[in-house]
Amino acid sequence: MPLLSLVTSCTNPKLSLSTKVNGKEGEPQNPAPLLRKQVKFVKNLAPPIMAAILVLSPICNDPVSVAQTVDIQRGASLFHQACIGCHDAGGNVIQPGATLFSKDLQRNGVDTEEEIYRVTYFGKGRMPGFGENCTPRGQCTFGARLPDEDIKLLAEFVKLQADQGWPKIQGIED
Ligand code: HEC
Repeated sequence: MPLLSLVTSCTNPKLSLSTKVNGKEGEPQNPAPLLRKQVKFVKNLAPPIMAAILVLSPICNDPVSVAQTVDIQRGASLFHQACIGCHDAGGNVIQPGATLFSKDLQRNGVDTEEEIYRVTYFGKGRMPGFGENCTPRGQCTFGARLPDEDIKLLAEFVKLQADQGWPKIQGIED
């Protein structure tokens, strides 16, 4: 147990007061070896402390922020696969007045997660729908349809990115 070994190395004189500071040198004659002893003491102590920190750290992590990070990464990678061809960096290469930036979303009445979901699911104009039950066929993508939860995640992702002015997502290259 790391915690146990932390206690042990604090109290065990063999570890903390080891005289085998430097095997090749003779008896300590100046303050330097003492300093080395202290260094050695810290070195002995460091791994158990690190182990204890590592063991304890999951308890200290905020599970909400971890989950959110994962979702953004997944949203970004979905976006990268399905949307980036027309909406690179939140723009719109087909219809410049219908970008995924807040001002366009607002003007076009698509500035809520629900509306973004609808447009992504059923398509609109020259934007194909990606929903599994998207109809009519001509309005839907010829590529792979997306499960509902992926579209939900995409809607959350697009909304979040729009609110923040489409910052680059680390780890996703475009
Ligand atoms: C083939 C090109 C194309 C692809 C791929 C595409 N879109 Fe679009 N998207 C468009 C076009 C064109 C519009 C404008 C539609 C209109 O208003 O008539 C649009 C509009 C939108 C809008 C509304 C924007 C606004 O300001 O009105 C949202 C939200 C959107 N797309 C999300 C997505 C998402 C999410 C994906 C990926 C799942 C995606 N799009 C994939 C072409 C595309």
